[in-house]
Amino acid sequence: MTRVFSGVKPTGHLTLGNYLGAMRQWVAVDQHRSDALFCVVDLHALTVDHDPARVRRLSRQAASLLLAAGLDPGLCTVFVQSHVDEHARLSYLLECVATDGEMRRMIQYKEKAARERVRGGSVRLSLLTYPVLMAADILAYGADEVPVGDDQAQHVELARDLAVRFNQRYGHTFVVPRATLPGVAARVMNLQEPASKMGKSDDVGPGIVYLLDEPDVVRKKVMRAVTDSGREVVYDREARPGLANLLEILAACAGGEPAELAGDYDSYGALKKDTAEAVVEVLRPLRERHKELCADPGYVEGVLREGARKARAMARPTVDAAYRAIGLLPPVAETADR
Ligand code: AMP
Ligand code: TRP
Repeated sequence: MTRVFSGVKPTGHLTLGNYLGAMRQWVAVDQHRSDALFCVVDLHALTVDHDPARVRRLSRQAASLLLAAGLDPGLCTVFVQSHVDEHARLSYLLECVATDGEMRRMIQYKEKAARERVRGGSVRLSLLTYPVLMAADILAYGADEVPVGDDQAQHVELARDLAVRFNQRYGHTFVVPRATLPGVAARVMNLQEPASKMGKSDDVGPGIVYLLDEPDVVRKKVMRAVTDSGREVVYDREARPGLANLLEILAACAGGEPAELAGDYDSYGALKKDTAEAVVEVLRPLRERHKELCADPGYVEGVLREGARKARAMARPTVDAAYRAIGLLPPVAETADR
């Protein structure tokens, strides 16, 4: 059976971009047709300035939202990355396979490091090595497929390269994974800045729809979305990015193709109104289920405990095999009579 692995970082409240670009596909498709693991990748949240209490809170919230969105622990494994040591264990070995130049070429690193330097801050070394940890997340489980939004495609490509290189040098150890991208809404853009991705780091972004936003907040954000000059509704990603983003969100939430939907509208106002309602309807069940889960924290904890147990058992043999293949001496087994 196909093995699928994906993750979400608890660096901020989850957004509509996370949902349409990734989670929805995990719920609707991946958990049913494959042996899937979904992980709250909390170690990745430590690569930028962080507040410990906030990371803890967001990790719990991300786990509840994955379940609220419809991941079913009876079908897939939901867990927290730091609960399974194998990720960090394997990451070090892969650092011995990856190169410095390769890391510095990663687009996300270049962008985030540049932003940090503009702010006068320092760049954590873990931001540079982050894609190696992500490769370890994937390779430890022998994942064949990694469903992600398109901002992560380069990182999955690196995981492939490292798997192939390791296998060539030290013998076949890892499955070579590939990214699977959603057809529509692979990149939901910020409603206020349609040239940038709708990312979750900005806490009160007026251009970011959070999964737990109240319906009226969602409506306000969508109605105030930046559109482009011009009056007809056409789908053109290059020339009319704001409009294209709304059409893609509408298509992703209500069905249809963005270019065809454009023909149904003769004003921006009507398009925004329908888009806002479509988003509100998509988020409604998720918010309701999240509220129920918050009232039952023991349930979520139980899911994470069992998830970590299953994940550990899956990752351990592969990571142990990698330790042996690369030349590390196996530990001497303790025996009862020693
Ligand atoms: P992150 O928020 O970076 O942890 O991302 C978790 C998943 O959501 C990854 O698969 C991302 O590619 C996806 N994702 C995040 N933001 C967006 C966005 N604006 N549009 C589409 N997918 C996204
Ligand atoms: N880097 C991913 C992101 O920012 C999150 C992530 C970490 C991930 N490890 C992963 C996604 C492994 C897929 C597989 O979205």
